Amino acid sequence: MYFYGTFPEDFTWGVSSSAYQIEGGWDADGKGPSVWDNFTHVPGNIKNNDTGDVACNSYNKLEEDIYLLRALGVKNYRFSLSWPRIFPNGRNNSINSHGVDYYNRLIDGLVANNITPIVTLYHWDLPQALQDVGGWESSEMIELFDSFADFCFQTFGDRVKFWLTFNEPQVIAWASYGTGEIPPNVNNPGAAPYEVAHTLLKAHARVYHTYDDKYRASQGGVISLCLNIDWIEPKTPSNPRDLEAADRYMQFLVGWFAHPVFKNGDYPEVMKWKVGNRSELQSLPSSRLPVFTAEEREYIRGTADVFCFNTYTAKLVTHATTRLNPFSYEYDQEISTDVDSSWPTSALAGHRAVAWGLRRLLNWVKEEYGNPPTYIIENGVGIKTESDVDDHTRILYYKTYIDEALKAYKLDGVDLRGYNAWSFMDFFEWLNGYEPRFGLHEVDFDDPNRPRTPRRSAVYYAEIIRNNETHLDSWAGSRV
Ligand code: NOJ
Repeated sequence: MYFYGTFPEDFTWGVSSSAYQIEGGWDADGKGPSVWDNFTHVPGNIKNNDTGDVACNSYNKLEEDIYLLRALGVKNYRFSLSWPRIFPNGRNNSINSHGVDYYNRLIDGLVANNITPIVTLYHWDLPQALQDVGGWESSEMIELFDSFADFCFQTFGDRVKFWLTFNEPQVIAWASYGTGEIPPNVNNPGAAPYEVAHTLLKAHARVYHTYDDKYRASQGGVISLCLNIDWIEPKTPSNPRDLEAADRYMQFLVGWFAHPVFKNGDYPEVMKWKVGNRSELQSLPSSRLPVFTAEEREYIRGTADVFCFNTYTAKLVTHATTRLNPFSYEYDQEISTDVDSSWPTSALAGHRAVAWGLRRLLNWVKEEYGNPPTYIIENGVGIKTESDVDDHTRILYYKTYIDEALKAYKLDGVDLRGYNAWSFMDFFEWLNGYEPRFGLHEVDFDDPNRPRTPRRSAVYYAEIIRNNETHLDSWAGSRV
């Protein structure tokens, strides 16, 4: 059922992107290589051997990007800074002034058009030089990331008032260092993700304190991190073990990072218990989940001013009754996942459109973390067609998801402050290359000029923004 109503006047509508997925210019003007540059250059790693070498060529199409953002009427634009474009070898003894210029021009252009920049410091494109000294498995990274962040606050913080440290830290820990699917491709699921997450949390807290100590008073911005959250529904809600399993999954997925930051500086009890218990069963001398000292807990607790997350889909979860692979995430959680075949699927395997899940998710965050000011930083759908300017599937996705967000805000009292569509335009979708299209704008990747064309969803989204609601008279009678 649709709910009819409007979002508040100061609701911040935006679109999102990330550096490696759109910029191109992979070695332009002194940029250093990232782990993604090197990974995509090996044939066979990415679908159709696609790379982000040129991507949407946003590095050279800044004016046009800003023009399109203006046409959408967005209040904010969330993008990420490429660390190796700014520090080619990852360290602040190698500042690349051309990279700094690019971001200065982008930020100036946004501010001149009244578009608030939301800036992610790390959206996965680690400088290769830092992976060469151990990457996120090394605690040296805390210092190195802090020095990059410090430089960014100092250089851009007069105009940037909304910072995100890590995009999807759970994916960094799990997919980069657990399954090893994505760079730096470390396959050590038992231990590495927990160690990497431990380091990411300390690095996040360190950067938060740097902002607090050196910049907040003069710059007055907010800083947080951006989690990835699927809604997890118990497969059989009448079965208490499934209910518990669903909550346990949320704790392993979200609580892993949010519990330390938004609650008490420490991991969720259920994680400590499960991983500790499993480690004992494996006859390990101590838990594979590392332990924070009292001082570290104090340092990490409260290091986010707002709650930010990305969401795309929902899953069903059951308490596992079968034997699980002891080197899997599921093993520690004692769960297995599924989807409901009645949920509509997009062309992207595994991503099902489950709009009502967003309302439940928002309520879960509200209950669990005390209704923090909340921002949906990425939400959208990938579709496997090239030319679909009349993209009613995407329009329906946005309409239903945004309507559920409205219910959470109006009916449930969730302190929702903003919504960002993913994505501004088609882009390089990591292992899937250019196949899934997420864009409000279509990009022609066969044309060296990378022309952008607004899809019908871009027109629809612009009207949502203008009216602060999804039920638009001008769209009555159309297929949505
Ligand atoms: C979340 C990631 O932040 C983004 O980079 C990716 O393109 C989307 N998920 C869609 O898979």
